[in-house]
This record gives sequence, structure tokens and C-alpha cells, in this order.
Amino acid sequence: MEPVTAPLTTIAEVGKHVGEAITLRGWLYNLRASGKLLFPIFRDGTGTIQGIVPKAQVSEEVFATLKGLTLESSVVITGTPRADERAPGGFELDVTDVKVTQAIPEETPYPITRKEHGVDFLMEHRHLWIRTPRQSAILRVRATIMRAAAEYFDTNGFTRTDPPILTPNACEGTSELFEMDYFDDEKAYLTQSGQLYIEATALALGKVYSFGPTFRAEKSKTRRHLTEFWMIEPEVAYLDLDGLMGLAEGFLTHIVKRVLETHRNDLAVIGKDIAKLEAVAAPGEFPKLSYDEAHQMLVDAHAKGLIENPHEYGDDFGSPDETYISNQFDKPVMVHRYPAAVKAFYMQPDPKDPTKALCVDVLAPEGYGEIIGGSQRVDDYDLLKSRIEAHELPMDAFQWYLDLRKYGSVPHSGFGMGIERCVAWICGLEHVRETIPFARTLNRIYP
Ligand code: 4AD
Ligand code: MG
Repeated sequence: MEPVTAPLTTIAEVGKHVGEAITLRGWLYNLRASGKLLFPIFRDGTGTIQGIVPKAQVSEEVFATLKGLTLESSVVITGTPRADERAPGGFELDVTDVKVTQAIPEETPYPITRKEHGVDFLMEHRHLWIRTPRQSAILRVRATIMRAAAEYFDTNGFTRTDPPILTPNACEGTSELFEMDYFDDEKAYLTQSGQLYIEATALALGKVYSFGPTFRAEKSKTRRHLTEFWMIEPEVAYLDLDGLMGLAEGFLTHIVKRVLETHRNDLAVIGKDIAKLEAVAAPGEFPKLSYDEAHQMLVDAHAKGLIENPHEYGDDFGSPDETYISNQFDKPVMVHRYPAAVKAFYMQPDPKDPTKALCVDVLAPEGYGEIIGGSQRVDDYDLLKSRIEAHELPMDAFQWYLDLRKYGSVPHSGFGMGIERCVAWICGLEHVRETIPFARTLNRIYP
């Protein structure tokens, strides 16, 4: 690489160098020419900045190089940042020099242009689409959400204990398992959730969490479903459902605060209404509704013609139901005590009404639906054994899990949050496919 002549910095940091000559390394994102004036927009992964290039003020060579440069060609630019209120990032660059690292030939132009492309085309070119400022901003917010999520547990006495990805059994329903061969006629399955394993580590270490990729062979084509997603899961010994709801509230509030601290520019590029996030971070508890109360809310809404389909008591909530419920609040809403029949085998029954499970789903505001699912776990040996039988799960594979109820069993609880659902909500995105660098969905595994 050519030596740089002025100190190297990034677009995110130009504010610290107003009036000084600096070097930026990046790509040409856009180019507008107006007579003897060029307005190139550069991007470098930390943001974008518009350059100003008056023909009279740069060498002929620099002007000609920039004028003929194709979009997404890689460049090293020297210039002086200037504060400008109208500029999206707050600064513009008076360009003095440019060195082209690679010029894209005219005959093979960059495939993503300023014109509108369909989602299929963009997903097919996801390896390039992620360069556009909006997609880059989403990925930066995602990184902060992941960091803040782990940080919340790291700074609150939790030990990270990551479970295996290859597992001998299901956690969340046998119909959604990716199966593979595992030596000598054995089968293995890609993990659906680390929960069963972190129940074991919670009984060893007290407060634990796991954070990793999770797989669901679900044939769902909704805007909320991926076949591979990242889940963060805390699990705590001696914690009941109320304590778990408190944990979820502290956790989500922390994440939103961190995003607001560092990503106001990115959220503006993405087009998210920041006031909606500020309402979540503001003091005040998250609303809590029992399943019965949520059901009643839907019955009333249906009577008033506010939702199309009536909600059947005993059924899980559908997407339109969750959307309606969450739209009634400006903070995430916690719906607890669902009918045990629609929930997983490991959930502790409510002693006050054993047909209900001591569980909670957290529904994000603005109609984003479930982002967190969790519960208190069955801690009684015999009850858990009968649950495994009733769900026709292979008892052999669950012996170790039953051991946890045999040797020093305690009440314990945990939840899982899918990072992509959280990113979709916080960024205000239509579909989870934009929340992860390379989405895996029912009909896409390329690139
Ligand atoms: O509600 P789920 O299935 O719960 C569990 O897996 C529990 N074992 C977690 C626990 O208690 N430790 O999934 C938890 C969360 C959902 O709320 C959602 O955010 C996300 O994982 N999720 C998905 N995200 C994207 N695509 C999918 N197909 C998802 N399925 C679940
Ligand atoms: Mg769930």
C-alpha cells in the first residue's frame, strides 16, 4: 500500500480533525458532478462523508481521476473535514488528493445501483448489499445489541457457559430439528436452544448464560423466522417467574440505552423513530398481562372490529394478535401464564392453576411480536419424567437432564432472546433477513 501523507482516521472520527489534513481509506459510494464541481460520497465502514472537489482547487490529475471513477472503486483520500450542519454526519470533506486502490472497469459495473432493486436481487447480492449505508448501519447496531446483551449478564454476576451445537435430542419440538449423521449409525441434531445444558451449568454456577447460533428446521416463511439465528439465554438457580420478568426488563432496558448512546446517526440512516426507543428506556415498569387478560383484550378488540379473527381461548396468540396486544403499549409487554398445553414440556405448572405454565413471552412494541420466551422450569423429578413421556420424547437422551432433578433440585428459571428479532424491533425493520449478515431462510442458503 502507498504510504499516507496525512494522519489516517475514519469517517466516524472526522469530527476530531476539523481543519486538519487527514487520510481516509474506503470506497466511492456515489458521485455527482455539477460543472466544475464534483461531489463524491465516500464510505469507509464507519459512515459516509461527502467530498467537495472544485476544479480550480485541485490538480488536474486529481479532478480527472475522481471524475472518471466508477462506483464502489476503492480509494485512499486526503482532505480536510469541515463542519456542515446540513451534512448527514455533520461534516464535509475538502478533498485535496486521491489514490485509487482498485478502479472497477466501466464494462463490469458494480451491480447494485441507485435505482430500486427487488428484495430477491438484493438477497442474491447480499455480499455486496451489506455495503450500502443503511445495511452497514443495521449491522453496526446489531453488533452493539450483541455486546450490550452479553455485557448485561457479564456485569451482573453471570458466567458464560456455551452449550454444544451438536446435540442428541430436541429442546423445542421434534418437528423443527436439523438432523445429521454422527458416526456409526448415530444421529445428531443442530441445537434449537442451549437451555437444557445451561440448566445444568446454572445448578453448578448459579447464574449463567449462553450465546450462540441456534437452528430451527421450521417451514415458516414469515418475516420473523430464520432457520439459523443467534440466541442469548440466561438461566438462574433459585429464580422464580417474577424474578425472571424483572431480569428481562433490566436486560432489554440496558440494550436500548446502549443503542441510544452510540447509534443516533445510524438509527437516522436506517429511518427509525428514536422517540419510540426513548419511551422504552424512560423510567417506568414494563406492562404485565396474564394470558387470560391478553385473551380478554383480544375478545374486546374483536367485538369492536379492531381485529379480524376472534381469539380462541386456549390457543396460542397468532401474529396479528401479538401485534394488536403490543400496539396497546409503548414499552415491551410481558404476557405470562399461557395454557401449559401450547407451551414446552419443561415449563413449571402454576400451583394456583396447573393448566397454566409459569412462563412469559415478551412482545416488543410497534407490532414486532415475541422477542423473548422464557419460563420457570419443572423441578420435580416425577413430574418432569411424566412430561417427557407425554411428549413422546426419547427417555434415554434425557437421563442426564432428569439427573438435575435428582441431585439437589431447586426452582430455576431462564429465557431466550433471538438477536435478530431484537434488531428488527430496535431498527424498525420489515423483515429479519436484514438483521443478520447472511440470512438463512426456508428458500435461501446463498450466498
Ligand atoms: O420461544 P423459544 O422457542 O424459546 C426457547 O428456545 C427457550 N428454550 C429459551 C429459553 O427459555 N432459554 O425461542 C426464544 C426466542 C424467541 O422469543 C425469538 O426471539 C427467537 O428465540 N426465535 C427465533 N428467531 C428467529 N427465527 C426463528 N425461527 C426463531 N425461533 C425463535
Ligand atoms: Mg416462544
